[in-house]
Amino acid sequence: MQSPDDLRNRREAVARLWDMSRGAALIPGGLPVPVAGTDQYHDFHAHPEFTYLSGARLAGSALAFDPGDGWVLFAPVAGIEERVWVGDGEDLEALAASTGLRVRPLAELQSWLERRRGETVALLGNDDITHHPAAYGVEGWTALEPDVDAELSARLSEQVSESRRTKDSSEIALMRSAAGASRAGHLAALRLARTGMSERQLQIELEAEFFRNGAERTAYGSIVGTGSNGAVLHFSPTSRALRDGEVVLIDAGAEVGGYASDVTRTFPVGPRFEGIQRDLYQLVLDVQQAAIGEIRPGVEYKDLHLGAAERIASGLADLGILRGNPADLVERDVHALFFPHGLGHMLGLATHDAGGCLKGRTPSDRFGLKWLRADLPLQPGYVVTIEPGIYFIRALLTDSGRREQYRDAVDWERVDRLLDFGGIRIEDDVLVTATGADVLSGAIPKSISDIEALRAEANSR
Ligand code: GLY
Ligand code: MN
Repeated sequence: MQSPDDLRNRREAVARLWDMSRGAALIPGGLPVPVAGTDQYHDFHAHPEFTYLSGARLAGSALAFDPGDGWVLFAPVAGIEERVWVGDGEDLEALAASTGLRVRPLAELQSWLERRRGETVALLGNDDITHHPAAYGVEGWTALEPDVDAELSARLSEQVSESRRTKDSSEIALMRSAAGASRAGHLAALRLARTGMSERQLQIELEAEFFRNGAERTAYGSIVGTGSNGAVLHFSPTSRALRDGEVVLIDAGAEVGGYASDVTRTFPVGPRFEGIQRDLYQLVLDVQQAAIGEIRPGVEYKDLHLGAAERIASGLADLGILRGNPADLVERDVHALFFPHGLGHMLGLATHDAGGCLKGRTPSDRFGLKWLRADLPLQPGYVVTIEPGIYFIRALLTDSGRREQYRDAVDWERVDRLLDFGGIRIEDDVLVTATGADVLSGAIPKSISDIEALRAEANSR
């Protein structure tokens, strides 16, 4: 639950940024998407711009702003059929109290739009209103459409994204709750995983614990990969069994109040990390902790990424997997053969939250930079993930062009022996503070000794 004061302050700050002397803004939250053959709907995700500004997450509603008239939330009132099949829906007075907004029945959106006929309207949020206006109770959208100003819509949307970067206390409280539920789930996985269990069974145990600890849903599809499956960055759990001697990678986060957590832990199926697993795990952990240690206001996220890339290159060179000077290896993108994604991203109402790149900065097409989802100087109140990883990805490492390009820089025979290794990723959610970092997911074990203690216990049962 967000404080109505925080929501009001957020709206006032955005209205100041928008600085609109005329025109109006309409921010539909989105319509529920039917599941064929069920008379039911997919799990509803309100558009983050709508939720950020209203605090509401209900389907089929729209927030509107007019500089002269202020904010108003148009919300559906359940008819008799909906009340029979779905329930009474949200009470408009309760909605007004929880959001701090003026709330009107959705049926009044039509006249709000008609009063602005001929004026400029910015359309943010979910643009499904342009395809299904009747579902928002609007007839004759086409007559209003020419007045939707694409340029103004883009500017206002960009400014909402900028505003969303700095989390207020309501948002931080929800993100702490989400991280707490994620902690419970990851701890359960560390305690329950055993040889013979499937990735899917582990997912079920993990998610059940999320839900028992306040999660309303998972923030994204849980990723559970054991053995070579751990090298697929967004792997969906299967019936593959956990095997002793392998590592399991779990990237899963709980969502609370619409806010995401995003946490990855990697651990051995047996009681201990063995051989190269141990070396690579310690390397990824050192890289992650060094990056978190460098977080403070003003630090460029891209520099954190490049620093992590250089530490990975240096560690892989120490292990004899790469050859050459770490800075040169990063310059040539050699590290990206093993660390092909960015160091992380902004986190909030979306797992890959809006506002990750400063205006005017476009993502690079360089192999070692193209998946970097954040490129901006950090500021207090931003929440970012820090998630370095090292993977043995067949698609990259058996590609003849890359093998030729990096012939001198990689010990390819060694790599060939590790093609079934899978991957290691360690990910935490970090709130930037005035002086450094507050790791929201920091209570989830990740040191080798803490993980091995939990795994020894699990293996002794
Ligand atoms: N947790 C999935 C991702 O960050 O892409
Ligand atoms: Mn992530």
